[in-house]
Amino acid sequence: MDVVQIIGGNPLWGTVNVSGAKNACLPIFAATLLTEETCVIENVPNLSDVRFMAQILEHLGAEVAETVPGTWEITAKNITHKAPYNLVRQMRASVCLMGPLLGRLRQAIVSLPGGCIIGQRPIDLHLKGFSKLGTSVNINNGYVYLDGIGGMKGSDIFLGGRHGSTVTGTANLIMAAVLTPGTTRIDSAACEPEIEDLCQMLLLMGAKIEGLGTHYLTIHGVEKLNGCRYSVCGDRIEAGTFIIAGLLGKNDITVKGTEVRHMRSLLHKLEEANADITIIDSQTVRARGSLDRLKPLEIITLPFPGFPTDLQAQMTTLMALTPGISIVTERIYPNRFMHVPELLRMGANISIEGASAIINGVNHLSGAPVMASDLRASAALVLAGLIAQGETWIQRIYHLDRGYENIDNKLRSLGAVINRMADKDMPAHVA
Ligand code: EPU
Repeated sequence: MDVVQIIGGNPLWGTVNVSGAKNACLPIFAATLLTEETCVIENVPNLSDVRFMAQILEHLGAEVAETVPGTWEITAKNITHKAPYNLVRQMRASVCLMGPLLGRLRQAIVSLPGGCIIGQRPIDLHLKGFSKLGTSVNINNGYVYLDGIGGMKGSDIFLGGRHGSTVTGTANLIMAAVLTPGTTRIDSAACEPEIEDLCQMLLLMGAKIEGLGTHYLTIHGVEKLNGCRYSVCGDRIEAGTFIIAGLLGKNDITVKGTEVRHMRSLLHKLEEANADITIIDSQTVRARGSLDRLKPLEIITLPFPGFPTDLQAQMTTLMALTPGISIVTERIYPNRFMHVPELLRMGANISIEGASAIINGVNHLSGAPVMASDLRASAALVLAGLIAQGETWIQRIYHLDRGYENIDNKLRSLGAVINRMADKDMPAHVA
């Protein structure tokens, strides 16, 4: 396993280009199963999660090739409908294969993915939706068995749950409904930009979907979909992570390649905190070191267009260095605070009360060996390491590679001192 060493305090300066969005790319790859024709997907980030998804598609029978870096051709001519545990358990997002398999083959057997460190992640809403479309749903031996061979039919589906809408659940239902006869209306649909991106691709494939970017989608089933060429949207969470990095120390980072309209809640909060942010154009934001002028914030994570849970950990690092008391409340994953004990090891002053982190800003963090627990927690620790005094060693860094393309090189090109090595090569005093 790899470990990352960061020597904190170097100013970061320059422009960074954001990669394609992981959370758009995964359902988009799954959607290629909806047609036997070839789909060419561009702006695909080079991430371990994307490679897992490619492997699962191949296992299902699709021909999958990265023809040039970032461009993948997928042809799902003859496919089977069973996604086994040994593949699905490696990546939760593989549950979004259920929808396209049902749509195309009228049946799916997909392993339940199992536990997740960021909290309980049930799929009851996905299954409720599938049964509304006329599919039988059974769970047996750790697998979900979906059978719609008897006849699926469009229906009205309310997809809201305790924590609001479901992103992958919405993707799943859309992908099943586009090839289901009749009209499906999804109320309380997730309207995250990644869902809109999936819908844009499905429209190019010949699907009939109305209400894009809203909580109310209407889908008129069609008989067949065609292949397409589609470019994945920029990653708003990667962009947000670099914008937050720009606010640390004496940094000055211009972040390019994500729609500013996808980041309104973050930019609004940063404006409220008096951060030095300039919107240069619809896809470019400049962020400059602001710790000496930042004000504390109260943040609540919510479904889009609210503040994204996937930026909560990174914001916690920023608030840990913001004078005054900030409060961050998680409404999506109430226990998603695994980064906090690690930030405490670096000198942060944070206490957890229920689903909230109460952050008392300190004037510096100090480098320490820390452990990454999930993707966004890793990003929060990288940010902390970049500004901390001394050396930070982050173990289990493979989490970061699931969602940030080439992050070491991107940070290094901005001036960061960041080195990756095998954990066996870590010096004894930090191992
Ligand atoms: N929920 C239910 N029942 C369901 C589905 C969800 O109660 O059937 C609950 C979940 O437990 C959670 C909330 O609803 O409390 C939202 O879950 P959602 O289904 O929207 O999450 P997801 O689709 O599994 C995606 C992203 C996550 C991101 C969440 C929330 C992908 C592949 N994953 O997960 O991304 O945190 O939406 O925005 O799109 C990440 O990239 O680090 C990541 C975890």
